Amino acid sequence: TKEIKILAIESSCDETAAAVVINGRDVRSNVISTQIPLHTLYGGVVPEIASRKHIERINQVIEQALEEADMGLEDMDAIAVTYGPGLVGALLVGVAEAKAIAFAEQLPLIGVHHIEGHISANYIENKELKPPFLCLVVSGGHTHLVRVADYGKYEILGRTRDDAAGEAFDKVARAIGLGYPGGPKIEKAAHEGDPFAIQFTRPKVSDGVYDFSFSGLKSQVLNYINGAQMKGETVNEADVAASFQQTVIDTLCEHAALAIDEFGMDKFAIAGGVASNQTLRSAMEKMCQEKGVEFYHPSPILCTDNAAMIGAAAYYEYLAGRRDGWDLNAIPNLKL
Ligand code: KG4
Ligand code: ZN
Repeated sequence: TKEIKILAIESSCDETAAAVVINGRDVRSNVISTQIPLHTLYGGVVPEIASRKHIERINQVIEQALEEADMGLEDMDAIAVTYGPGLVGALLVGVAEAKAIAFAEQLPLIGVHHIEGHISANYIENKELKPPFLCLVVSGGHTHLVRVADYGKYEILGRTRDDAAGEAFDKVARAIGLGYPGGPKIEKAAHEGDPFAIQFTRPKVSDGVYDFSFSGLKSQVLNYINGAQMKGETVNEADVAASFQQTVIDTLCEHAALAIDEFGMDKFAIAGGVASNQTLRSAMEKMCQEKGVEFYHPSPILCTDNAAMIGAAAYYEYLAGRRDGWDLNAIPNLKL
């Protein structure tokens, strides 16, 4: 059988990325140029700066991805690109680039949903993983509990009503002065703290068992800090970080466990930037072990934004015969 080689491009937020992926699971290169140090100055991603940096870097990133794979554009079978959701200006850079390459090389163009990419990151290192499985996508922009019925077939069981899990990490980190991006900083601080020192209540959504809500938890943490400061007490930042992180993890685990039981799933995967959190992974692994469910997770570098995951998702779209036209556009609020 023929090898399908895909050049994939990702530029939905603050990572300019390109990868060469063969048959969806064999990653020949995975180049990521992160803009995090630039945005750290402002405490979060500045969309205008993100678009500008994507434009400056994208050609170089693609060239490097081809070089590392020891291939040229003439070797490719398709060009894949994230077309949503994300920052519209950032997405447009990748979409325009992918269209230009596909047009010039007369290659099929495949637009990929960013969340489908995150989910598909699990295929890369777990060669035996096939749908159906349950996947929890936890990133800076999204918190989705998804039943992957088949390749390209997704049923969203639950989603966040307000802040995403990663967003909550980022906002709490800012409040306790840890800086951006908050996830890794909270995780590090939490190692020194007691996860049971402060009792935050697990957020619940009354009319949706699988839905999430993290903005209330963020407020609880802010109120706790303000309250302590007003009483002149010193706040133990490590305890706040550890207790907050534990509450998020408990909530995510509880939702996942409920869905595993109700839908009789025997495979569970996590994805997205927050999935690189080691404490979260251990908790999920333990929960799955207790249930006799197979647990999957990508390496940290495949959890945060990258183009290899877009190449993995695109392969199954390619097999299904899905192609996009030259009218492919960036869709900032694209639905799965
Ligand atoms: O998937 P991603 O790179 O971008 C989006 O699609 O949003 O996720 C970035 C998010 C940020 O909110 C970041 O704080 C969070 O993932 N994150 C973490 C960790 N590493 C990154 N959250 C918790 N623990 C971590 N170790
Ligand atoms: Zn992402």
